[in-house]
Amino acid sequence: MDLKNKILSREAKIGVIGLGYVGLPLIIEFVKAGFEVTGFDVDKSKVDFLRAGKSYIKQISEDSIKEILPKFDPATEFSKLADMDAIVICVPTPLNKNREPDMSYVFGTTRTIAKYLRKGQLISLESTTYPGTTDEDVRAILEEGGLKAGTDFYLAFSPEREDPNNNDFRTRTIPKVVGGFNPASLEVAKALYDQIVQRTDQELIMLNENLNLLQTLLVSDVD
Ligand SMILES: NC(=O)c1ccc[n+]([C@@H]2O[C@H](COP(=O)([O-])OP(=O)(O)OC[C@H]3O[C@@H](n4cnc5c(N)ncnc54)[C@H](O)[C@@H]3O)[C@@H](O)[C@H]2O)c1
Repeated sequence: MDLKNKILSREAKIGVIGLGYVGLPLIIEFVKAGFEVTGFDVDKSKVDFLRAGKSYIKQISEDSIKEILPKFDPATEFSKLADMDAIVICVPTPLNKNREPDMSYVFGTTRTIAKYLRKGQLISLESTTYPGTTDEDVRAILEEGGLKAGTDFYLAFSPEREDPNNNDFRTRTIPKVVGGFNPASLEVAKALYDQIVQRTDQELIMLNENLNLLQTLLVSDVD
């Protein structure tokens, strides 16, 4: 079965890397939509908290963690990435003293994914970053093992727009912008996000060619 059909039938296994303000609400939505989700983090204390049904994020109740636990596997064992069909990267990109994003977390995580990458997987980057990160830097790391983006695996960028203190918008109601490395990647990534957000608003093909358009759309969406 191809990945799009696996997503539509809820058989796709989803891995979310980074169990923070972005990753955790995303996991809750995927589980509510009927998926099995593995949540990966390097911070063992967070994984232990979640396994015990506890929350370390004010906006997320313990009940909502307990509710999803039957289908949610919090993990520090990154070898489980090999079993995932779709992998979503939600690791931090804090600004350094020059106000540039520190990309070490994204690139470190991408190297880990590359170790376990297999044909047919979707990799989607949600971390906030600069144009070109996905289709140049992330792609280059993922392709080091010989698999090719767009033909062997799907590659997408869908910048997170979570606003934890805004009660008017939640993960499900914030329109999601999805960019795909090629039309097939876009189709699969859109199918994935369509299961958990009300609107995958703007659809873009070929990340590289559409970055200006993406920026324009984001600005016009804010207006
Ligand atoms: N929080 C927001 O409101 C918000 C809004 C829009 C965009 N973003 C962006 O989303 C991304 C994630 O932000 P966040 O607020 O969720 O961060 P966070 O600090 O709350 O969570 C990130 C998690 O990633 C984990 N982590 C770090 N390195 C890792 C690695 N190599 N492998 C696995 N896990 C790792 C950390 O332990 C932490 O639990 C950032 O790029 C941020 O700029 C955040």
